Amino acid sequence: MMIGKELNDAINAQVGAEFGASLQYVTIATHFDGEGLKKLAALFYKQAEEEREHAMKFIKYVVDTGGEVRIPAVAAPKATFTSAEEAVKLSLDWELEVTAQINKLYDIARAKNDYAGQNFLNWFVEEQVEEVNSMDNLLKVVRRVGEKNIVMMEAYLAHGN
Ligand SMILES: [Fe+2]
Ligand SMILES: [Fe+2]
Repeated sequence: MMIGKELNDAINAQVGAEFGASLQYVTIATHFDGEGLKKLAALFYKQAEEEREHAMKFIKYVVDTGGEVRIPAVAAPKATFTSAEEAVKLSLDWELEVTAQINKLYDIARAKNDYAGQNFLNWFVEEQVEEVNSMDNLLKVVRRVGEKNIVMMEAYLAHGN
């Protein structure tokens, strides 16, 4: 089964966005690591791994459907942050943007009556609900704790939230 060119191109672009998210999360993780906030760092290192897995999932789909993998250039991530809130807000904004991108991929698959494509993308639709929700929640807690007491996030995260 061949993937359509339009979806193939859009997925290649999405692979760039997923790798870009991975690099951004690595950078955020190193920021927290440098601040001595090891649990926050671990959370973002793990997120970075997940984004890489997302990219690989898209790549595998393109290969499995006889398409062409063309990984685009990935922009350098934002490197410095003045607060935990800024870093987590950036992450939430990124997740919202990715959600919109996934919806656009879905639009293409639907317009082409590409049922395999829609079925494949359903996983990402569901995943984004989870990603946006968890980042939104993290931002709420970070804001509630406040920058001055940000070390309390370590205790919060240690309790498995
Ligand atoms: Fe992702
Ligand atoms: Fe994500």
